[in-house]
Amino acid sequence: MFKIDLRNGKSFTCDLDEIVLDAAKRSGISLEYSCLSGRCRSCISKSLSGATRDLQKDLVLTEEEKSNGYFLSCCATPTSDLRLDVEDLSNYNLPKPKTLPAKIDSLKPRSKDVLEVVLRLPPQSGFSYKAGQYVKIIRGSVRRSYSIANFSPNSAKIMFYIKSYLGGEMSRYWFEKAKINDLLRIEGPLGTFFFRGDDVKDIIFLATGTGIAPINSMIEHFKLNPHIVSNKQITLLWGSRVKEDLFISSTDLTQLINLEYTPVLSRQNDNWEGEMGYVQDVLIKKIEKFDQAQVYACGNDNMITSAKNLLVQNGLAKNNFFSDSFVCSK
Ligand SMILES: Cc1cc2nc3c(=O)[nH]c(=O)nc-3n(C[C@H](O)[C@H](O)[C@H](O)COP(=O)(O)OP(=O)(O)OC[C@H]3O[C@@H](n4cnc5c(N)ncnc54)[C@H](O)[C@@H]3O)c2cc1C
Ligand code: FES
Repeated sequence: MFKIDLRNGKSFTCDLDEIVLDAAKRSGISLEYSCLSGRCRSCISKSLSGATRDLQKDLVLTEEEKSNGYFLSCCATPTSDLRLDVEDLSNYNLPKPKTLPAKIDSLKPRSKDVLEVVLRLPPQSGFSYKAGQYVKIIRGSVRRSYSIANFSPNSAKIMFYIKSYLGGEMSRYWFEKAKINDLLRIEGPLGTFFFRGDDVKDIIFLATGTGIAPINSMIEHFKLNPHIVSNKQITLLWGSRVKEDLFISSTDLTQLINLEYTPVLSRQNDNWEGEMGYVQDVLIKKIEKFDQAQVYACGNDNMITSAKNLLVQNGLAKNNFFSDSFVCSK
């Protein structure tokens, strides 16, 4: 058994061959994570002393990062005591994940390849989540991650925006077989993509495709609790290939007085006079200073990596960039 110390003075123990993230959870300590499969980098951790080895394949870190003491806490186990330079999120009181039955309440196409799915949970389930978190939806032996797209804490209904992936096992179910009242299961809430609410002036949301889902949930949370953001300027850039893929109307997204929304298309579209290109490049043209900003980015992995590099080069503090990468959750 090894001892793991965090920079805030807390510590926990990790059994032989136990994954660091699991050991932290077992001790009631919340560390940053998203995909749980070594693909998204959310759980990247720096070891100030001690060593680790991977039990699950790390698919993203470079050799240079590894030789500088970085590892993925969803993949690695310690081979000695560790001292880690990571944030402990326990003070945010993230709700404990549960596994619950869930019935399909409604299915509504939102664009040619996005379906809005509402699941109904047992009324007494007491399911709660932070806006921005996701759940695993379970059908038989297939489990896929989907971000909760609404924020309605007193209702037993949770909504998702689900994209169709060619040849996708769960996509085939959603787009060809799913019907009202089908019985599924969910496990959640999961992930640490939620609004931190620190003392910053600018809140910037970057989304591509269905990556708008957790951001829509955060915006609904702000609409219910406007005081949280009353002294902040909120900027949202949402990117897609064509305008028909922007499946939420700008009126629905901008009911917050201090939210400025810019849709961005990456392909030439007829009659489009708005922004073209990638959300992160458009953002750099709109905002010059990022020293008072917190950025929440969700969707495509390439956008997230590129946005983080670009914004950090332009003055954003690394620890003010939060992301949920919609990597393949197989
Ligand atoms: C934290 C998290 C949150 C997510 N939230 C959402 C969400 O709100 N809405 C949503 O539509 N999806 C979301 N995803 C992605 C989702 O979990 C599935 O990966 C996706 O729906 C495909 O599942 P599938 O069974 O249809 O395809 P699979 O059978 O898993 O894969 C079929 C094919 O599609 C490719 N593929 C699968 N997933 C992706 C992907 N994400 N990007 C690129 N190629 C892919 C695979 O490589 C494979 O070739 C999220 C993923 C994560 C990790
Ligand atoms: S890489 Fe560890 S949570 Fe995604």
